[in-house]
Amino acid sequence: MSEPLAFDTAKFRQVLGHFSTGVTVVTAHAQGTPVGLAVGSFASVSLDPPLVAFFPNKASSSWPKIEDAGHFCVNILADTQEEICRRFASRSEDKFAGLGWRTVGSGAPLLDGVLAWIDCEIEAVSDAGDHFFVLGRVRDLGMSHEGAPLLFFRGGYGRFAL
Ligand SMILES: Cc1cc2nc3c(=O)[nH]c(=O)nc-3n(C[C@H](O)[C@H](O)[C@H](O)COP(=O)(O)O)c2cc1C
Repeated sequence: MSEPLAFDTAKFRQVLGHFSTGVTVVTAHAQGTPVGLAVGSFASVSLDPPLVAFFPNKASSSWPKIEDAGHFCVNILADTQEEICRRFASRSEDKFAGLGWRTVGSGAPLLDGVLAWIDCEIEAVSDAGDHFFVLGRVRDLGMSHEGAPLLFFRGGYGRFAL
C-alpha cells in the first residue's frame, strides 16, 4: 500500500501551475481526418539524435488516433492564437472547421499563423501514471511566422513582455 500523501490534487495543480509554459497544438492526420489537442507538456529532449517529447492524458480522445497515425506535428502557438488553443483544448468533434492549415511531410496538419513547427515520427511511448510519455524523432521543422509566444501560467493565458 502506498503512503498517504501530504497534499491533495488541488494543491498539486496549484503548485505545478506556477511553472509557466508555452502552448502547442499537437496534430496528426489519422485515416484521412485531421486531429489535434492543445499541449503544454512539450519539451525538447535530445539534439543528436533529434528528439522531442510530450505527455498526453490517458483520457485524451485524440491521442489514440495520433498513436495509430505514427506521426505528429507540434505547432507552437503565437500570442494571437488563444482562441485556437481553447478550441484544441475542447473535445469538439471538428476542431479544424474554418481553420487554415496545410500538411507537412508526415501528413500532419501545420496550422496557419503558428510561430514554428516540428514534424515527428513516434519513437517510443511509455507509461507515465495517468499520462503517457511520448518520444518523437524529429523529421523536419521550421519557423513559419514572426511573433511572440502564447504563454500559460496559473491556469490563465499570458503574453511575453519584451
Ligand atoms: C494550456 C493547456 C495545456 C494543455 N496541456 C496538455 C498536455 O500536455 N497533455 C494533455 O493530454 N492535455 C493537455 N491539455 C488538455 C487538452 O488539450 C484537453 O484535455 C483536450 O480536450 C484534449 O482533447 P482530445 O480529447 O481531443 O484529445 C492542455 C490544455 C491547455 C489549455
